[in-house]
Amino acid sequence: MAKLWGGRFQKETDRLVDDFHSSISFDCRLYRYDIAGSAAHARMLARVGIITPPEAEAIVNGLRDILEDIEAGRAEFSISAEDIHMNVEQMLIERVGEVGKKLHTARSRNDQVALDVRMYLRDEIDATVNLLEELTGTLLDLAEQHTGTVMPGYTHLQRAQPVTLAHHLLAYCQMFGRDMERLRDCRKRVNVMPLGAGALAGTTFPLDRDFVARELGFDGVTENSLDAVSDRDFAVEFCAAAALIMMHLSRFCEEIILWSTAEFGFIELDDAYSTGSSMMPQKKNPDVAELIRGKSGRVYGDLAALLTMLKGLPLAYNKDMQEDKEALFDAVDTVQKCLRAFRPLVATMRVKEKNMARAARGGFTNATDLADYLVQKSVPFRQAHEIVGRAVAYCLEQGKSLEELNLEEYRQFSPAIEEDVYPAIDIARCVEERAVTGGPAPAAVKQTINSTRDKLR
Ligand code: ARG
Repeated sequence: MAKLWGGRFQKETDRLVDDFHSSISFDCRLYRYDIAGSAAHARMLARVGIITPPEAEAIVNGLRDILEDIEAGRAEFSISAEDIHMNVEQMLIERVGEVGKKLHTARSRNDQVALDVRMYLRDEIDATVNLLEELTGTLLDLAEQHTGTVMPGYTHLQRAQPVTLAHHLLAYCQMFGRDMERLRDCRKRVNVMPLGAGALAGTTFPLDRDFVARELGFDGVTENSLDAVSDRDFAVEFCAAAALIMMHLSRFCEEIILWSTAEFGFIELDDAYSTGSSMMPQKKNPDVAELIRGKSGRVYGDLAALLTMLKGLPLAYNKDMQEDKEALFDAVDTVQKCLRAFRPLVATMRVKEKNMARAARGGFTNATDLADYLVQKSVPFRQAHEIVGRAVAYCLEQGKSLEELNLEEYRQFSPAIEEDVYPAIDIARCVEERAVTGGPAPAAVKQTINSTRDKLR
């Protein structure tokens, strides 16, 4: 097939080169945006008198037919037409004849590809935000059921102070909330219309760029043609936001993996979201969580690939930039797939409240509260810390928890300790007392659940 740019060439492209530099195998996913962008461009060309209204109509109708054929699986892409832009243009010319050759007036594939990727990413950002919203909704529902489910909070993965499962889940709601903000913010910079930048230096034709922007739902037009065709910051930004989402998911998955072990025993995964071993009949593995944790590396890689691809490029467009798409598509696919798999994984897991409570009680997570109790009895905190440390050492020796010491035993450590120590170190009460804004007390947590729900709406 003759090349759309074949005029100055005397030889055919080597087949190896065709295959090597063609992007149609992956950029075909942009077809809808490419066609919508071309239709808007054609209408604009007619509006400013560069082509006639009947010509524009023929082009727009031809594009509509192509869209239908592609959606119905009737269209065949060709490697020698290189990319989605020239595939669509070639199909158009085959269908509508000479008038199809007018479509590319005052346009380059350089501004066209920037347009397509921006339109694509805009939709995928919205889809990703939706998935994050759904996940947050699920976490809030779960949190609502567990405002009183006491569990140990950890530092250094050592039992530290008591929290509730609701509080723990809400920590992730905060992370996903920031992820949504980042995506929405990134979208503002994505949603700027580059057509009119041409190959790099704009065009001599009197284009109505604002018309095209309005037609395609953009907030504005790019303000420098060199930048418009060589900017991929927006794709980097998306990948960075996606990398953070994956990091958050991965940490959550790590906890789910730990919690589902016999050693922790905090949850049991639903059969539908876990898998068995081909050799060991007793196994129930948290593969979904592990796979999400594993896939975070891919998305970090996509981010690194984009940054590295761009770092040495002189202005404006360079073919290196064709490499933006596979990394971006992979980041989009991976983060969305992981969000889709993760939500039912947490929604269906069975929480073992008793084990969580036992771990909180047996782990001296109320030691700080005992020290705080002594402070209330006028013991200086540093001294209280020392006293409780010795009491804990004693408990470890005796195989007891702090709640299990009798008053006499307590008195060996401090005469300030009285009968009222027991309610003061009651685990549920230790949680209730942490009623500071953002703390784990059920009342504070319920407030956060409500405010998070309001933000979702
Ligand atoms: N397939 C190309 C890409 O994805 C489109 C732009 C090509 N422009 C060019 N001057 N070769 O970047």
